[in-house]
Amino acid sequence: MTDVTMEKIVSLAKRRGFIYPGSEIYGGLSGTWDYGPLGVELKNNIKNLWWRMFVQERDDMCGLDAAILMNARAWEASGHVSGFSDPLVECKKCKHRFRSDQVEDKCPECGGHFGEVRQFNMMFKTHAGATEEESSVSYLRPETAGGIFVNFKNIVDSFHPKLPFGIAQIGKAFRNEIAPRDFIFRVREMEQMEIEYFVRPNEWEVAFEEWRQNMHAFNDAVGIPRDAVHELEVPDGERAHYSKRTIDFEFDFPFGRKELYGLAYRTDFDLSAHAKASGAPLSIIDKEGEPPIVPHVIEPSFGVDRTILAILTSAYTEDELGGEPRLYLKFNKAVAPIKAAVFPLLKNKPELVAKAREVYSMLKKQIPQIMWDDNGNIGKRYRRQDEIGTPYCITIDFDTLGEEPELKDTVTIRDRDTGEQERISIDNLLSRIA
Ligand code: GAP
Repeated sequence: MTDVTMEKIVSLAKRRGFIYPGSEIYGGLSGTWDYGPLGVELKNNIKNLWWRMFVQERDDMCGLDAAILMNARAWEASGHVSGFSDPLVECKKCKHRFRSDQVEDKCPECGGHFGEVRQFNMMFKTHAGATEEESSVSYLRPETAGGIFVNFKNIVDSFHPKLPFGIAQIGKAFRNEIAPRDFIFRVREMEQMEIEYFVRPNEWEVAFEEWRQNMHAFNDAVGIPRDAVHELEVPDGERAHYSKRTIDFEFDFPFGRKELYGLAYRTDFDLSAHAKASGAPLSIIDKEGEPPIVPHVIEPSFGVDRTILAILTSAYTEDELGGEPRLYLKFNKAVAPIKAAVFPLLKNKPELVAKAREVYSMLKKQIPQIMWDDNGNIGKRYRRQDEIGTPYCITIDFDTLGEEPELKDTVTIRDRDTGEQERISIDNLLSRIA
């Protein structure tokens, strides 16, 4: 068994260009992380897969990309201005602040006593425009869901969808977490992939069950193993203010079993609240001749950053290959940031380099996520590609050039997981990798 620790994941992620601390040269900014060249490829693969699976391949879904800054009244209506808060305590001696549910009765920094617990609103507040007065207050959205609810009427008016149907959105959301921690698990700036699925009120249970299965199917598609994911029925009193039923999908992270995704039954809470506060009719005609109804909502919510952390944890593997210890990321091929790497056997043989460049360009035209590597010896290149989870390494050698005439225009292709190499014709490379 591989002993996966957060130290190992954070170190690999930085060393290999997946994830860097935010604003690092200035000492960082707590709760922010920057995705490097490989991180952004991994992230885009995950988001594209999600979008394709839940928007493009379905007939009952449409997409949206709403503004992050929203009218403050939307967050008043949704209950976030009054209720989206965490319990905060401050040490009377050193003034450090903590979430009261994450500390004992003494300050972990200096042993001092805490003052009264008070509620700390987690929304980032800003001002839109040049005046800093109450009327210019705006909030960075704390969940992407808000943009979906306020566009419900627009989408119904443009597309006249029939129930049940869903609106999906991928985008940034911001929470001023009191204690950001555990790398990209709890951050202040995150990305969410959310669906608000609108149903007839008496059909919510069927939709809830369907989305529960769909969420597991997504985990399968990105390579998060089912036995590492556990459903938790969130009890009364612990659910968000808008939810009548919530299942948390928890994952076995190196620091414990914690929430990966959430599935909530939001009833008609949001549409009714926005209709009341804005005056806009947020209802839909379900049956001709009958009065419009306010649909109920099932909400599958996926955190992109937590998906990445779960994928990195699941993929991190240490084994032995050729008698040597090695470390590799056993990414599912669909999410791997680089699909194949192409090497000339030797860097200083122009004819090898030219042939390798030809193969590289041919592949890259069809599959953009292809990497060129001619640095160091072949063994080192394999290790480097293993560490970033590249499924295939392709080497162009003298046989490719025709040193053994019957092997002309063949290359070796090495499998990341087994380390085994096979000789195949250049003509078959594309179909093998695709
Ligand atoms: N619209 C529903 C909603 O926002 P949530 O449980 O507060 O519900 C949904 O958040 C998902 O967003 C979580 O399951 C998690 O994946 C992700 N998430 C929430 N807060 C986060 C944070 N501070 N850092 C990283 N991801 C977070």
